[in-house]
Amino acid sequence: MTDLTIKPLDCGLGVEVSDVSADDFLDPLILDTFVSLFNTYSLVRTRVAGFTEAHQYALANAIGEVTDRAGAPGKSATPGMQYVSNVRADGVLGKGAINFHHDHLFYNPPLKALMLYAIEVPASGSETHFRSSVAFYAALTPALREQVDHIQCKHLYDHTKLAARKYRDWDTDPTPGSPTDIKPWVWQDPVTGRRGLLHSQSTLDFVGIEREAGISLYGELTAFGEEHADEICTYRHRWAPDDLILWHNLLVAHARLPFAKEEPRTLRRTPIV
Ligand SMILES: [Fe+2]
Repeated sequence: MTDLTIKPLDCGLGVEVSDVSADDFLDPLILDTFVSLFNTYSLVRTRVAGFTEAHQYALANAIGEVTDRAGAPGKSATPGMQYVSNVRADGVLGKGAINFHHDHLFYNPPLKALMLYAIEVPASGSETHFRSSVAFYAALTPALREQVDHIQCKHLYDHTKLAARKYRDWDTDPTPGSPTDIKPWVWQDPVTGRRGLLHSQSTLDFVGIEREAGISLYGELTAFGEEHADEICTYRHRWAPDDLILWHNLLVAHARLPFAKEEPRTLRRTPIV
């Protein structure tokens, strides 16, 4: 068994694991270590060459139930494997920036965790930012916390629109049949009791506040998140080939920054419930 090197990331969110090989992920003790790190730190980053679908499945299956949720194209022969890609024929979500969000809040249950493994990355750069929803909630003023504690959000995903607009367009009616679900704005982790702000691009409407006031509050919180990005544990990851990131989908929000669409970009994604 490999001796892993583990150290916290500088930003206050997550942990980095080094000295790991692909076949380590077939070792139950290594998988237990990753599960423990995931449960403690909410985000685990490593770099591992030759990490196949089988390795990815083994790790995902240790974290939870791997899902091929309905409506998601790009299925491969291995369950739960999708390719976020602008070059593969079966690629999904190949283009465009996406603001901070949590995946599948428009389904019940939402995803517990997500994993991305970088296969091909634009030479000019490609970043995903990760933000602690727990630190975000904790940083709010008491007055803001009091408001969001009593509001639920209706989330939407419109498969007919391009990537950045699949989530929400305040002014356009969603395509009939698009998945929607209502979630509390403040989510409490049933395992640890931690409370996090589910502040997500998928938010379409509100329960417990008039829509216009909800949209205004959403904008206020978005600005708050940007102004306090360091205080609320934002980890900015610049992708390199073989990078693997596993994160808790409800305790950590993620956002994809713009990248050069003419340069190949392929990440292997696994959703976990
Ligand atoms: Fe996402």
